[in-house]
Amino acid sequence: MSKPVRKAVLPVAGLGTRFLPATKAVPKEMLTIVDRPALQHVVEEAREAGIEHFVFVTGRNKAAIEDHFDMTYELEDTLRKRGKQKELDSLLADLPAAGATSFTRQQAPLGLGHAIWCAREIVGDEPFAVLLPDMITMAGGRKSRCLAQCLDAYARHGGNIIAVEEVRPEETHQYGIVALGEDYGHSFEISGMVEKPKPGTAPSNLIISGRYVLQPEIFAVLEKIEKGAGGEIQLTDGMIALSKAQKFFGVRFDGRTYDTGSKLGFLVANLAFAMAREDLAPALQAEIRKLVG
Ligand code: G1P
Repeated sequence: MSKPVRKAVLPVAGLGTRFLPATKAVPKEMLTIVDRPALQHVVEEAREAGIEHFVFVTGRNKAAIEDHFDMTYELEDTLRKRGKQKELDSLLADLPAAGATSFTRQQAPLGLGHAIWCAREIVGDEPFAVLLPDMITMAGGRKSRCLAQCLDAYARHGGNIIAVEEVRPEETHQYGIVALGEDYGHSFEISGMVEKPKPGTAPSNLIISGRYVLQPEIFAVLEKIEKGAGGEIQLTDGMIALSKAQKFFGVRFDGRTYDTGSKLGFLVANLAFAMAREDLAPALQAEIRKLVG
């Protein structure tokens, strides 16, 4: 029996340079998708999957993230006094339980692999999930979001799990890519990985889409790994090294992932999440029609 996955690591130290000036004083993870910060969508996905403890790897100028997942005494008191029960209930429902969050800092932007390594003391010797907050997922036919599907696959296969999604071949150089081994349909064995392959060299069009279940042995590997693509310590390179000793499985996420790290992806995510809301969809659809003529 595989050990249960109780903790999730959320690397949120990125500078958000692609979203300046919006991210000058506001962490990019706090930009809103409809009416909640992008990061809250990701935390909700983890909670739905049964994660109990959230480890945020933050950096300087990210204090708003810590405040967001804390109680807001004055606000709650004011809502209570004004009888705004619905707003109050929704705030309280979103609040993680006391002691269910940890914050540590990545002191220098040395890459995703280094950010995950910064969480080693808090995670300890147990398997854990990783959710990249740029990637926002929406459930498909299975109704569950991406991390829940990864944990289902983990219960079946054990080892390490990586969610993947198909992209057009000309987009593969922007992502980590996996090569397909034995195929079970929804999941498959991963026979190779590469971070940001040169155009035309990717082993498939299946990108590493930002949800992982990893064994704690990854930390010792990340400690020793050399800098890779972009001069950064890459999580993918750590996984390649670990795959010599442990199995990795891919999960074809049944749903849709929005890469909000790009402006277009961010805008599309906002539209998609708004269109999924009964209170917004009809009016938004009418406005879009007007815009596109
Ligand atoms: C990171 C990972 C990459 C993955 C991508 C998903 O890259 O290194 O393997 O495909 O996230 O967004 P980054 O977006 O940080 O360059």
